[in-house]
Amino acid sequence: MPVYLNGAYLDKAAARVSVDDRGFLFGDGVYEVTRARAGRLFAGDRHLLRLERGMQELELRWPEGLDAAGLAAVSERLLRENDLGEGDAMVYVQITRGGEGTPRTHVFPGPGTPPTVYAAASRFTPPDDARTRGAAAITVPDLRWGRCDLKTIQLLPNVLAKQRAAAAGAYDAVQVRDGIVTEGAHTNVFALLGGVLRTHPAGPRILPGITREIVLELARELELTTSEEPIPAAELPRAAEVFFTGTTTDVMPVVRLDGHALGGGRPGPVAGQLQAKLLERLHATTTGVTPAGR
Ligand SMILES: Cc1ncc(COP(=O)(O)O)c(C=O)c1O
Repeated sequence: MPVYLNGAYLDKAAARVSVDDRGFLFGDGVYEVTRARAGRLFAGDRHLLRLERGMQELELRWPEGLDAAGLAAVSERLLRENDLGEGDAMVYVQITRGGEGTPRTHVFPGPGTPPTVYAAASRFTPPDDARTRGAAAITVPDLRWGRCDLKTIQLLPNVLAKQRAAAAGAYDAVQVRDGIVTEGAHTNVFALLGGVLRTHPAGPRILPGITREIVLELARELELTTSEEPIPAAELPRAAEVFFTGTTTDVMPVVRLDGHALGGGRPGPVAGQLQAKLLERLHATTTGVTPAGR
């Protein structure tokens, strides 16, 4: 299983990162997870744009000889070298501020310190069974910081939220801040309320999900009324439909929330239509072919 680390392709078991690395010590870095099909990245440009924006905000620099286009090429090479030229896969990339050989101090290391760049590709099985049945979710308080728009590797509140969901037998946790639904632990949240498809506005309180952005485009193509306005958590129980969106989630209908049935306890038609359109876009952009019947 070759992975990419700082310019080299090597076996994952041989990949080593320094204990001085600021990713390890401070969670000082950003990451992306991109879906791939037939050996090609889905919405790769959007993921790389988000990664670069995060890097700019955190003053992280590309190492010598690498840029966003180069990282896309690395990702596609990893797909090839891991025999992922067919079917569904995903690529994980992470860039930290590095720091090998530097003392541990909060202040950034000197400008000559190279970042650490890691990338790996793996097989991906979309959670279609859960989608068919509809997922359970729980609500949890949103404990995160003021820059949730940055896809940083500091994920402890998300990890705790997802762990609570898993312990409750749920797919994901709906995070709530000041009575408002922000997003899932690794997903965005949509609700169909009064005929309007709503999701939290982009801004510092949520990650601007690539799937969220595409689903909003697809909803407009379906001539659904959409609105990026906050959803009070108290309104969720009366939503006709609630669903999560995410790169490894696609569109996931939520049919139980905190142990109570939502939307009649069955996946709703809007989530189903959006999932079908999302798969159509995925197939069309990665293979250039629209599958018959979709
Ligand atoms: C907190 C959070 N929100 C939303 C998402 C969904 O984003 P995307 O659709 O880009 O995968 C993720 C994905 O990891 C996430 O971690």
